[in-house]
Amino acid sequence: MSIARKDYEVRPVEVVAGRVAVPGDKSISHRSLLLSGLATGRSEVTGFLPSEDCLASMAAMRALGVAIEQPSATEVIVQGVGLHGLRPAAQALDMGNAGTAMRLFAGLLAAQSFDSELVGDASLMQRPMERVAKPLRAMGADVRTSAAGTPPVSIRGGRALRGIEYAMPVASAQVKSAILIAGLYADSVTSVISPAISRDHSERMLASFGVRVDVDGLRVSIHPPAALTAQRVHVPGDFSSAAFFIVAGLLAAGPEGLVIENVGLNPSRDGLLAILRRMGARIEVEAARRCGAEPVADLRVLRSPLHGIEVPPLLVPLCIDELPVLFVAACCAEGETVVTGAEELRVKESDRIAAMAGGFARLGVAHSVLPDGIRISGRGEGAVFTGGAVDSCGDHRVAMSFAVASLRATAPIRIEDVANVATSFPGFVDLARSIGLAVHET
Ligand code: S3P
Repeated sequence: MSIARKDYEVRPVEVVAGRVAVPGDKSISHRSLLLSGLATGRSEVTGFLPSEDCLASMAAMRALGVAIEQPSATEVIVQGVGLHGLRPAAQALDMGNAGTAMRLFAGLLAAQSFDSELVGDASLMQRPMERVAKPLRAMGADVRTSAAGTPPVSIRGGRALRGIEYAMPVASAQVKSAILIAGLYADSVTSVISPAISRDHSERMLASFGVRVDVDGLRVSIHPPAALTAQRVHVPGDFSSAAFFIVAGLLAAGPEGLVIENVGLNPSRDGLLAILRRMGARIEVEAARRCGAEPVADLRVLRSPLHGIEVPPLLVPLCIDELPVLFVAACCAEGETVVTGAEELRVKESDRIAAMAGGFARLGVAHSVLPDGIRISGRGEGAVFTGGAVDSCGDHRVAMSFAVASLRATAPIRIEDVANVATSFPGFVDLARSIGLAVHET
């Protein structure tokens, strides 16, 4: 995983323009490997995201005995071993920075006949894992975490799993997915009830692999299948990666706007669009279509004066990974923006509330930190950020958000510790430069 320390130096520029296509969706790429590996026969994945996080999932599937070829960076061929064909890994599975991989694999491995251990990088080793361990134990699995509830996650195999009905305390797609994947192996139906909407990529993909999944509002039930049928999976562009370009376009697009092609617009993921539109954003959806089980479209983003709002807490789970760059947009909006109900940001790859606030303090933006969010005094049009050095805290989304902030800075911004951008967005620097952002890796 990322070892060498890297920084970005980003110079202010006035205008961005062009057409870009962002890399494949991270959530869908992880799931494509897991489900293809469990299917019977050969699955093909196109549009795969070859980022460090997804490559950690790929390495884990290979370590569990699944043959995977990668004829090109974004094409993957998986020879599925069937639901009961995985073999024990020779050593602990290293998930790097990938919380999604660790939680989804916890669900998968809890149901196997053999023991497993899951570890990760320094950030992942601090993240809460009891949220998956607890429901898996209720299914009869033997899943252990550290005294602090963090990795390593140690799993004893050979336990027969029973179907459960589980009301999740937090709206987490990772937890929901871990339970659904374990539910593939249960003796009866498993239901997960969410307190709010969370992304539904697992439900969509399980159904396309032939699994019966019933969705009734916030309740999802999985019926244990006899087998999964191998598929062709087309992965759309990642909305979360597009988010940086959406905000860049709003702040600085030229007269034609900035076009982002083939963006996944799953309604459980696209809350950022609704929030930004309430702030005055002009974002046009063009050529709406399907990409396998997922909706996609091209987005034309027009430069737009923004105004601050109170973000409705109901929209927060639909925009959880996009909040760092939304905060940057809020700094550039006229008046105050308040985000609450976002306490989950504190347990992401970094404490994203603290990391963004730390950067805003360095760059001269008035704000106050709330336990579950932030209050930002936006400066409106014109220069918003001073130059200076900010610490990304090793968090990919924090790093890319501050690169976008350069569009309204009076002097260069140095963003420290950015190597983890490769966990979700390989090629970010080149793509950002292609629209005119003056970002250099140092
Ligand atoms: C993800 C779910 C979200 C999100 C993460 C990816 C997924 O986490 O923040 O980046 O692929 O299921 P939670 O489900 O924990 O909210």
